[in-house]
Amino acid sequence: MIPNQWYAILESNEIKKGKITCVTRMGEQLVAWRDSHGQVTVMSDKCPHRGVAFSVGKVTGDCIQCPFHGFEYDTSGTCTLVPANGRNAEPPKALHVKTYPTREEHDFIYIWWGEPQGELPPVPWFESIGEDMVYTTLKDHWANHYSRAIENQLDVVHLPFIHHNTIGRGNKTLVNGPVAKEESHWPGDHLINLWVYNEMDNGQKPKKASEIPDPTRRPQLQFRFGNLWQNWIADNLRIVIAFAPIDNENTLMYVRYYHNVRIPILRQLNGWIGSLANLVIERQDRRVVVTQRPHRPDLGIGENLIPGDSPIILYRKRRRALIDGNNSD
Ligand code: FES
Ligand SMILES: [Fe+2]
Repeated sequence: MIPNQWYAILESNEIKKGKITCVTRMGEQLVAWRDSHGQVTVMSDKCPHRGVAFSVGKVTGDCIQCPFHGFEYDTSGTCTLVPANGRNAEPPKALHVKTYPTREEHDFIYIWWGEPQGELPPVPWFESIGEDMVYTTLKDHWANHYSRAIENQLDVVHLPFIHHNTIGRGNKTLVNGPVAKEESHWPGDHLINLWVYNEMDNGQKPKKASEIPDPTRRPQLQFRFGNLWQNWIADNLRIVIAFAPIDNENTLMYVRYYHNVRIPILRQLNGWIGSLANLVIERQDRRVVVTQRPHRPDLGIGENLIPGDSPIILYRKRRRALIDGNNSD
């Protein structure tokens, strides 16, 4: 995982007030819970007293209570009460639980995975998604590294093969370009925009990205680091995916189908049909992508990439640069 990034790791409705949600993300067992104001805390699921999981404990007001000896910890992970020492005793400073800076926006729970920083950047999102849009979510587990799943969504070469009977219909096997451009809107922001020009092979030579005029229309695909992607099908129709890393070999995909049909029954029906279509398409991908080896891709792993793979190269380069700390441009 790339350090010093925001990652969408859960959806808001997975964390109910008064309940503890336990998940593995970023290779660590975590608990998420809401205080009395509804504010979400994400922390390590391990009591620093003697290692019991908070997930079998409970929320008491604005604290989480370990079930073993009743120690309580606040939203910053500081121990506020050691009952055995008496309620007036100051708890030892060493009793501290690792917590993650957390934001709840766009119905996602984002955590900052990395070094603490004075002022954290905005969470990644796609501002072009109108406030009037509604969505339905489909969750699916993929048994591979989250960056394989991301690369698959930047892969325009696979469309007529994996999706020959769905979104890749039309036998457009010849890949012109594609055109992939990076954009940045604040320090540390990295957005990849992607335009697709696949067509049927009538014996013509594919155009290089440099031979394609600068696109004037909106991109079809966008990826924003750490882990958000959108397919901009139309202004009122989008698919957004948050690739939540479980660990190095597992990813939870939050696939949202956005539209602007707000009439209650039609909204449900449209969401249901859209999600079903997404499930079919996404399962076409999953069946194949989880067989890729190694599970975690990188530059120089011995794959033989072709010009149509250029968005994947761009993604890998940026990913590598961010991991190496070269994120100053
Ligand atoms: S192990 Fe949690 S209070 Fe003792
Ligand atoms: Fe696909």
